[in-house]
Amino acid sequence: MSGSRGLDFRFMQELKQKNDIIEVIASYVALDKKGNTHWACCPFHHEKTPSFAVNQADQFYHCFGCGVSGDVVKFVQEIESTDFMGAVRILAGRAKMAVPESNFDTEKAAEMKKKRDQMSAIMLDSARFYLSNLYSGDDRAQAHLAYIQNRKLSPTTVKKFGLGASLDFYGLPDYLAGKGYSRQNLLDCGVLGETKNGKLIDAQGGRLIFPIINAFDEVVAFGGRLLEKSDFAKYKNTKETLLFNKSKTLYNINLLKKLKRKQPIQNVIMVEGYMDTISLYQAGFENVVASMGTSLTKEQARLVKRYSDTVLISYDGDFAGQKADLRGLEILNDEHLTVRVVPMPDGLDPDDVVKKGKDEYQKCLDAAMPLIDYKIHALERKYDLSATEDKRKFVAGALKVVASADSESVKEELLKKLRDKTGISYHALERDLQRAAKDTAVDDTPTEPLQNKIAEVASGAAQTVKAVRFILAAKLFNAAYAKAFDVNGLSFSEQSHRVIADYIAKQESSGERIRPSELFEMLDEDDSELSAIFDLNYEDKLSGEIAARFFSDSVRSIQRAEKEKTLARLNEEYANETNEEKRKEIAKKIANCVRKK
Ligand code: UTP
Ligand code: MN
Repeated sequence: MSGSRGLDFRFMQELKQKNDIIEVIASYVALDKKGNTHWACCPFHHEKTPSFAVNQADQFYHCFGCGVSGDVVKFVQEIESTDFMGAVRILAGRAKMAVPESNFDTEKAAEMKKKRDQMSAIMLDSARFYLSNLYSGDDRAQAHLAYIQNRKLSPTTVKKFGLGASLDFYGLPDYLAGKGYSRQNLLDCGVLGETKNGKLIDAQGGRLIFPIINAFDEVVAFGGRLLEKSDFAKYKNTKETLLFNKSKTLYNINLLKKLKRKQPIQNVIMVEGYMDTISLYQAGFENVVASMGTSLTKEQARLVKRYSDTVLISYDGDFAGQKADLRGLEILNDEHLTVRVVPMPDGLDPDDVVKKGKDEYQKCLDAAMPLIDYKIHALERKYDLSATEDKRKFVAGALKVVASADSESVKEELLKKLRDKTGISYHALERDLQRAAKDTAVDDTPTEPLQNKIAEVASGAAQTVKAVRFILAAKLFNAAYAKAFDVNGLSFSEQSHRVIADYIAKQESSGERIRPSELFEMLDEDDSELSAIFDLNYEDKLSGEIAARFFSDSVRSIQRAEKEKTLARLNEEYANETNEEKRKEIAKKIANCVRKK
């Protein structure tokens, strides 16, 4: 067996027998039987009519739309984005079979699996412990129960989400002691911490516990909420572990997966918090997941895409002003998900709204809109349109948003909406839009941040780094004035800059679109240079005449710095050279360099 990578034939045969391809695939997508073939919309490409066929007799799938095919192991490999052994492990787990350890690539892999399994067992045990605390009748659990009641969660909901209570710092370590878990694993899975004296303590001491469960129903982490206001962080999550990678996890993905088995999911509601998720779910909006407060990652986008191709962003407050969230939305777009933003009343989160009534939240959902519309909507709420001064400010701001639209038809549509909102004629708005575009072109008073930036470029040692950042940002975000500039001419002191420039050069030479979020695959998402460069894309820093001027200033300043470096090097060479002929040659180069400068 070529595909079995050292696993014996009998094992693979049994594995496949116990994992019927129809059952396995049906747990991911809805299958529709016609004759001998089961059909589905292909989970590996977007389509509206099914062309993904599964044949039970042959235990084989094939998509007539995109051409993928394979057996049950290949399917799991693809859909779970894992390797062969990963798929075998999943299928073995499903069929309650033990994977013969001797067959692992190395002993190390076997050890890792053992560790992972033990950690997973500790998580499950801890979750059970917290859950039993809640209903233990212990006086200390009264506060947790009261809190749950206060937040209007029903017992059914509490059970569904496996909420629990940590009553103190020592209950959990005591409970886990004597269960045969190694101290190292207890610490490594993040449920316990250590005092200075080496005593084990509950990392969530005293908190209300929200288990975070992955798509395979494994508890991988806990979110713990303080019951009362304090200076400590309101929520504390388990640290990142072998089991828990926050950027690859979505809260409630386990129940979303179960929902998908029952019915197709039209859209997924993306909220920020644990409580938002639970409240919406309880109110009947079961198609909800939470990003757990951080900006979305590519992995999370891909995860959600397995369940639906439309995401309704339901964050609280004026999130559109926050760059981290806009970056998240761009990532969803890059993954070809349809994104809609759900407008929320001021200062309320989905949990607050749904508490007022299911209909209240449904109204918000019904009003979901594209991001650009949402920006205008958010602006409108800041002003009182019946007051002349406010109305003018609103129109000026809204026209700026309209100007940022990348299609003329969207601009026209938005202008019509503005006309209806303000009673100003379409023609007047259109003329103002053109004038606004022209005005920014002649207005050369730099805005505050840009003024600072220009000053920074003109002075100091960091000037080159800042200039390079600006150039790379302009290229990445397709500023028209940067189009003709070739990044290959640049040299770099920062490794991240090199990676970004190489990416830009590669896309340009192959005629491919530049997708800034692809860089998250090449660089750490927290890479400080990458963040600095992305930051330049916000608050209009890259658009308008000032930015264009800043760009050419940056290019010039870099070229100057380059020449200075070359000159310094040549001078040194000249000083060290003893051969008269060669000295003359270097002198000529120096003269050349100085002249160009
Ligand atoms: P929010 O501050 O919006 O809290 O954080 P919330 O969900 O509305 O919480 P309640 O209603 O006060 O209970 C949103 C999410 O961000 C993460 C959590 O996942 C939280 O649900 N978060 C927030 C943290 O991880 N740590 C924090 O200190 C705060
Ligand atoms: Mn809340």
